[in-house]
Amino acid sequence: MEKNEELLARRDRAVAHGVARLNDLVVESGSGAALVDAAGREVIDFAGGIGTVNAGHCPPLVVAAIQEQAQKLLHTCFHVATYEPYVALCEELVRRFPHGPETRAMLVNSGAEAVENAVKIARLATGRPAVLCFTEAFHGRTLLGLTLTSKVGYKKGAGPFAPEVYRLPYPNHYRYNDGLSLERFVARELERLEDAFVNTVPAERLAAIIIEVIQGEGGFVTAPPAYLRGLRRICDEQGIVLILDEVQSGFCRTGRWASYEHFGITPDVSTWAKSLASGLPLAAVVGRAHLMDAPAPGQLGGTYGGNPVACAAALATIRTLDELDLCARAQVIGERMLARFRALQERCPLVGDVRGLGAMCAMELVHDGNPHHPATAAVKEVIRGALQRGLLLISAGSYSNIIRVLAPLVITDGELERGLDILEDEVLRVTGASSPALA
Ligand SMILES: Cc1ncc(COP(=O)(O)O)c(C=O)c1O
Repeated sequence: MEKNEELLARRDRAVAHGVARLNDLVVESGSGAALVDAAGREVIDFAGGIGTVNAGHCPPLVVAAIQEQAQKLLHTCFHVATYEPYVALCEELVRRFPHGPETRAMLVNSGAEAVENAVKIARLATGRPAVLCFTEAFHGRTLLGLTLTSKVGYKKGAGPFAPEVYRLPYPNHYRYNDGLSLERFVARELERLEDAFVNTVPAERLAAIIIEVIQGEGGFVTAPPAYLRGLRRICDEQGIVLILDEVQSGFCRTGRWASYEHFGITPDVSTWAKSLASGLPLAAVVGRAHLMDAPAPGQLGGTYGGNPVACAAALATIRTLDELDLCARAQVIGERMLARFRALQERCPLVGDVRGLGAMCAMELVHDGNPHHPATAAVKEVIRGALQRGLLLISAGSYSNIIRVLAPLVITDGELERGLDILEDEVLRVTGASSPALA
C-alpha cells in the first residue's frame, strides 16, 4: 500500500491534475480479467480500460505479435512508405464492416481523432458544414470532439467551441418518455428531428448526423431500433451522412462486431478505437468508398496513425476475438449480468433501471424511482467500497449515477460471479445505509 501512496504522491506532483484520477488504484500488471496492484493484491476488472480490453489484459497472441513486429519495424509514417500491417488491417476492417458496394478504411491514433476525421470526410464529401449530435453524447476531448460531447463538466471554460454543431435530445425512453409508449416516443423524437430541419438547421446544410447506437459515457442507453431505422431513412432522404460512433461499443462488446448489426442498419461512415488494438493507440474510420475517397491526397492521415506495431496488435486482437468466439461469450456474460442486476432491482428501490446490450451492461441508481433524481453519491460509495474489496468499477452518465460494466470478455465464470457478488453486496450495503449523507 505504501508503494501505491508514494506513486500517487509523485503523480500529484508531476502530472497535470486535469488528467482524471478516478480512484487510488495503482497497477503493475494485468492478465485476462485481473489486475495486480503494487502491493500484489488482485483486483477483478469490471472497467476493462473503459472498453479497451475486450480480448483481455495482455492477450498472449497480441503480446507475441507486438514483440515480433517491434523487432522488424517500428515506424516509417504510412505516407512515406507503405507497410503490410496497415493494409492488412484495412482489408480486415472493410471485409468485416461493409458499408455499401465498396468500403474503405483509414487509421488514426484515438477515438477522438477518428470522430474528427469522420466529420471532415462527411464535410468534404457533401460540401455542407453542419453536424447534428445528441445530448449525453461522448465523442472525445479534442476541440471538435469536445464540441460534440454533451456533458458540461468536460467542457466548462474550454470554449469557444467549433461552429455549426447542433444537438437534439438522445432518444432515451427511460429518461425522456413523458408517459409515452415506446412507439409514440419514437414517433415524437423522429418528428423532433424533422422539425429541427425547419427550426434549427436546414437539412441541406447538414453534412452528418453522428450518434452512438448505445451510448457509452452517456450510460449504456440504446436508441430504440425504430428510431435508428427512422434516422437511417431520413439521412437517405436528405443526403446526410450517417456516422455511427462504435468506439466504445465495437469489437464484440455487445455480442456483435458492431452494435448497429443488432438493428439491421448500416452507417455511411463509422468510427472505431478502444478494443480494436487491446490498448495500443489505434483507431479507424470506415466508410462508403465514394465518401472516404472525397478528401484529396494529403487531407487525411498523420505521423503515427496506423503505426506497424499497433496494426500488428489489432490483427492479433481480431484473431483472438474470433478464435475465442468472444461475441458469443459477450451474450452469455450479458445475460448473466442482467439477470443478477434485475434480481437486485427487485430488492433495492434505489436501482431505477437495469439495461444492456450484450456485455455492455449498466444499472442506474435514482431516488424515488425518478430518473431525474440521480443517486450520485450512492454510486460513488458503491465504487469506493467495491474497490476496497477487490473489484474495479466505473460510473457513467451526466450525473455519474450509473454503474457500467465493461469487463474483459475473457473473464472466467468464477471471476464474473465473484465480481457480481461484491457489486451486489455493495449496492445493498449502501442502500441499507441510505442516509441523507449518501443522497
Ligand atoms: C463513443 C466514444 N467516442 C469517442 C471517444 C473518444 O475516444 P478517445 O478517448 O480514444 O479519444 C470515446 C471515449 O470514451 C467514446 O466512448
